[in-house]
Amino acid sequence: VTMLNVRSIDPAAQDLIKKAHKDGIETVWDRYDKQQPQCGFGSLGVCCRHCIQGPCRIDPFGQGPDKGICGATADVIVARNLLRQVAAGAAAHVDHAYDAVEALELAAQGKIDYPIADAGKLKAVASGLGIDSEGKEPDALALEVVRVAYGDMGNHHNRPMKWVSAHAPKQRLEVWESLGIIPRNPDREIREAMHQTTMGMDADPVNLLLATAKQGLVDGYAGLKLATDMQDILFGTPAPVVTEANLGVLKEDYVNLIVHGHVPLLSEKIVQWAKTLSPEAEAVGAKGVQVAGICCTGNEVLMRQGVPLATNYLAQELAIVTGAVDAMVVDVQCIMPSLSQISSCYHTELITTMPIVKIPGATHVPFALEKADEAAQEIVRKAIGAYARRDPNKVHIPDYRAKIIAGFSVEAIAGALGKLDPVQPLKPLADNIVNGNIVGVVATVGCNNVKVTQDIFHVEMVKELLKNNVLVVATGCSAHALAKAGMMNSEGTERYAGNTLKAVLRAIGEAAGLGAPLPPVLHMGSCVDNSRIGDLVTALANYLGVDSAALPVAASAPEPQHEKALSIGTWAVAMGITTHLGVIPPVLGSKQVTELLTVGLAEVIGGKFYVETEPQKAALGLIEDIRKKRQALGLDQ
Ligand code: SF4
Ligand code: FE2
Repeated sequence: VTMLNVRSIDPAAQDLIKKAHKDGIETVWDRYDKQQPQCGFGSLGVCCRHCIQGPCRIDPFGQGPDKGICGATADVIVARNLLRQVAAGAAAHVDHAYDAVEALELAAQGKIDYPIADAGKLKAVASGLGIDSEGKEPDALALEVVRVAYGDMGNHHNRPMKWVSAHAPKQRLEVWESLGIIPRNPDREIREAMHQTTMGMDADPVNLLLATAKQGLVDGYAGLKLATDMQDILFGTPAPVVTEANLGVLKEDYVNLIVHGHVPLLSEKIVQWAKTLSPEAEAVGAKGVQVAGICCTGNEVLMRQGVPLATNYLAQELAIVTGAVDAMVVDVQCIMPSLSQISSCYHTELITTMPIVKIPGATHVPFALEKADEAAQEIVRKAIGAYARRDPNKVHIPDYRAKIIAGFSVEAIAGALGKLDPVQPLKPLADNIVNGNIVGVVATVGCNNVKVTQDIFHVEMVKELLKNNVLVVATGCSAHALAKAGMMNSEGTERYAGNTLKAVLRAIGEAAGLGAPLPPVLHMGSCVDNSRIGDLVTALANYLGVDSAALPVAASAPEPQHEKALSIGTWAVAMGITTHLGVIPPVLGSKQVTELLTVGLAEVIGGKFYVETEPQKAALGLIEDIRKKRQALGLDQ
């Protein structure tokens, strides 16, 4: 195995890593090497910088200091650090959701040029919140929904957030209430977590971990669920789309424009203007404008507009190394600052757009909802302008792309299953889980992490799961990885699915009129669209009349990188779901915290973290967990 193979299993990435070396480009892998050896204290989570008497470090071997200057033990330091990380992840998603609420408000008031695309979803969301939509115009109804969202955001009573009480499984609400962790107002909870972790505050690891679980709920409902609901109303609920994934979707004779980040408010407009301004691209000798996506903005426009996926997190720099990207526009989250340096070595226009994401060397085109069309046009024109400066000698587009079917919202899944049972669309799925044709469902989510060979954990673990008749649903960069590996098309079903799973996917595919099996991995969207997985789990639990913690369902972030992955994982654990992590988070410095996260928590909340750094073992561990749940439900003997 060569070093290049160790860095990524994606052939396009391997190809471009070679080109990066040839072109003298430093990549994330080179910088990772330069960081070796990484700090052991930081890796174990036993470094504290919460006050300026510190930094303090605990000796993990028990020979040096066992307390910080203030007396904080390793348990306290690790628990506080984790709470801050999870709160940061939740903050990112809540901020995203808030932007989407604001957009829906302005759209409903007619102040911005964003039509409400999905009146049906609006009605469904309204009815979930107990709002009567009878005889109401979409704009008026949307404003009522927005009022409830702002009511949660600004809730100054001690009542639970409506977005939680309206959407969580009933049995879960009781568990969370008994633990006192139902969030009231996301901003207040995040503020409280910051306060709780300052010097001289909470020194009880158990109390800190309960606060961490609460942040998981903040993330799940005030972040993920709220964002997806608003975005579906504004831009439409995804339905199946067919396209391709990997850097081979870039086209030599087109203007290539990459959208990267997480929020679709601008990228939706860019997709639209890329079509409209195509004649201007033709005027400079290109055949049109090819938009492709990286990370979750990519997933958003894939799910709703069928825009192809360029690549996932770890290969974002390599996209520019193709020399064929005329512009890369970024919004928020997961954007490497190094993109600016790298784009300066090619002709690529790197364009930042958000007031809280500026990168020296990039062009800043400010994005405001009121002037979204202007910003999108300016960005598309910058890409067209850059096309003329492209140096053909530097262009190399690796010829790799896999066909994918995406767009599996819960509504789309119910639509496909509804062909088998129009009255109870979930019945065919539930029946096949009950009879064991589908052993269980695993959601693979989250990022790439430079500590893991790119995509290998996602792909190898999922191969094992599929072989064992476990249905896989995916979001985020995990979805990208599985898309690139050919696991999101009908051939993937024939190739990877076990016999009983294959038979079910064939039957659904036939009934849904695909003329081919449903893919073995269903792309459910972006990271905030983990809410769709939550909705599916909630619907299954309600349909079967059991707690979500009892379902033969598990989750995995095989290559987690971001604090958001920790907050999403914490939400999944709070849902009672065993949640695998393929990279060890910085908690091992505390035996107590590690024990609570992986064992103790399960006793009170039903879910737990499961850490395993080997893909096959992780798959088998998840299957074992699913089997135990099946037995407890009386499904297997
Ligand atoms: Fe050290 Fe305590 Fe200050 Fe942390 S809060 S840096 S452990 S004195
Ligand atoms: Fe993401």
